[in-house]
Amino acid sequence: MEDNQPAIDWDDLTFSFTETDRMYITTCKQGEEWSPGIMQDFQNLSLSPAAGVINYGQGLFEGMKARRAEDGRVILFRPELNARRSAEGCRRLGMPEVPEEMFLDAVHQCVKENIQWLPPTGRGELYIRPLIFGSGAILGVAPAPEYTFLVYTVPVGPYFKGGLNPISLRVSDEYHRAAPGGSGGVKAIGNYAPGMMPSKKAKADGYAEIIYLDAVNHQFVEEVGAANFFCIKNQVIYTPELTGTILPGITRLSVIELARSLGYEVHETKVDIALAMDSDEAFCAGTAAVISPIGSIEHGEKIATYCNGEVGAITKELYDALTGILEGRADDPFGWTPSVD
Ligand code: PLP
Ligand code: COI
Repeated sequence: MEDNQPAIDWDDLTFSFTETDRMYITTCKQGEEWSPGIMQDFQNLSLSPAAGVINYGQGLFEGMKARRAEDGRVILFRPELNARRSAEGCRRLGMPEVPEEMFLDAVHQCVKENIQWLPPTGRGELYIRPLIFGSGAILGVAPAPEYTFLVYTVPVGPYFKGGLNPISLRVSDEYHRAAPGGSGGVKAIGNYAPGMMPSKKAKADGYAEIIYLDAVNHQFVEEVGAANFFCIKNQVIYTPELTGTILPGITRLSVIELARSLGYEVHETKVDIALAMDSDEAFCAGTAAVISPIGSIEHGEKIATYCNGEVGAITKELYDALTGILEGRADDPFGWTPSVD
């Protein structure tokens, strides 16, 4: 299968959609068990115009990556945490949970059957996109009568252009991503469309993304578009605590665990924008973003510049430690990188 390489320039990969060959799919009626899934050719779906997901946004997605290690292994990163997060999201959105074993089996099958789309070592990743959504028809605002779980894959390059080059961000005073009691803490598809226009505006003004503040005090940092926020002051690492309005990122958790194992003090706390602006270093972290150093943040009239726009020493240390494990170059004492056999 690997001889049949697609015509793709691996050095030109961006974070954009490319159709690959195969996808996993299965369905479940409300109140019943998921049927055993099947692998099929990548194809469009046939959906009722009254499907719950397209009328009321009842759906969630996950995002994970497979990489080719130097020794030839194909490795994932903590996929069981994506499975568990999806189950929490299903509970919040009134959808049947996909059992962890089924979720992981779907991911493994999808990677194996699209293996020719996995970029060579160090030149990109195979992004894995599980989706769970209400596919049954429903008119009243209520959980759909039927659900679909599918997984597809896409070869990707860096999420932010320029790889490890520090990005410029702007704090939004106008828009919020989530409010207490809402769905900000799960990967609900409906969380993303409201961020598109603010993000597009920021990009048109030369920023890579927006930083959202909390919706109650307009004072504490929440997230950076689709990645979690970290800042470092006097060698201490700060990241917003999980209060239900930000996504519990798997990269966030891994950075915290890794930093503590390297001897750093990490505070999961309310991060005042004033502290963030006054920090020595800042970065954001996510599956797509990996660790992306922040070079500057604009907030109203103020601009904070970190490390003269260079990558800070602690950010670099964490980046090297995390990517060493993600890419299978370094020892993985935590057992975070299962192979796809
Ligand atoms: N925050 C949001 C809103 C996201 O969409 C993501 C991406 O998944 C993250 C944070 C980072 O989470 P993870 O590290 O699990 O990819
Ligand atoms: C991810 O990091 O996997 C994300 O989901 C980010 C994004 C493309 C929405």
